[in-house]
Amino acid sequence: MQGIAIYPGSFDPITNGHVGLIRRGLEIFDRLVVAVASNRVKDALFDVDERLEMIREAVNGDPRVEVTSFTGLLVDYARSRNVRVVIRGLRAVADFEYELQMANMNRKLYPSIETFFMMTAEDYFFVSSRNVKEVASFGGAVDALVPAGVARRLRAKLAQPPER
Ligand code: PNS
Repeated sequence: MQGIAIYPGSFDPITNGHVGLIRRGLEIFDRLVVAVASNRVKDALFDVDERLEMIREAVNGDPRVEVTSFTGLLVDYARSRNVRVVIRGLRAVADFEYELQMANMNRKLYPSIETFFMMTAEDYFFVSSRNVKEVASFGGAVDALVPAGVARRLRAKLAQPPER
């Protein structure tokens, strides 16, 4: 297959699961737009610029990957970029309902959009941005789960002051 797809998400922060999906997406599509949703979220740990920087580091300047952000509806952004394909990773049954709703809502809003789902590699089935943040916040090791720059930033941001 050829063409371009959007890979949207919160990426707060990007994990190795996301990186694997980008790599596999590039075996199917010529180019990917990795798009960080910059709508206000109360409990975001990293601001949008930090998230973009971590993604750019993780894709290591691959010219096939554009790393950007959008506000508002994904379908409006996709339409403005003239892109019809969205890719999303599916980890488990728990993701399914949310993803099904989102894909159907997006199709209702923009009938020519198509969502492609890829199963997350089994090594990262249990990895989410949320649980990586939780583990890191309690001092657990996340180095095997996220790119090196993300692990470093998590440590810097979540380092607990030593108890007295
Ligand atoms: O990584 P996430 O948090 O699962 O990604 C969700 C995301 C950002 C893809 C989704 O919330 C989104 O597209 N937000 C933009 C607003 C929008 O279009 N909402 C309608 C979807 S039903």
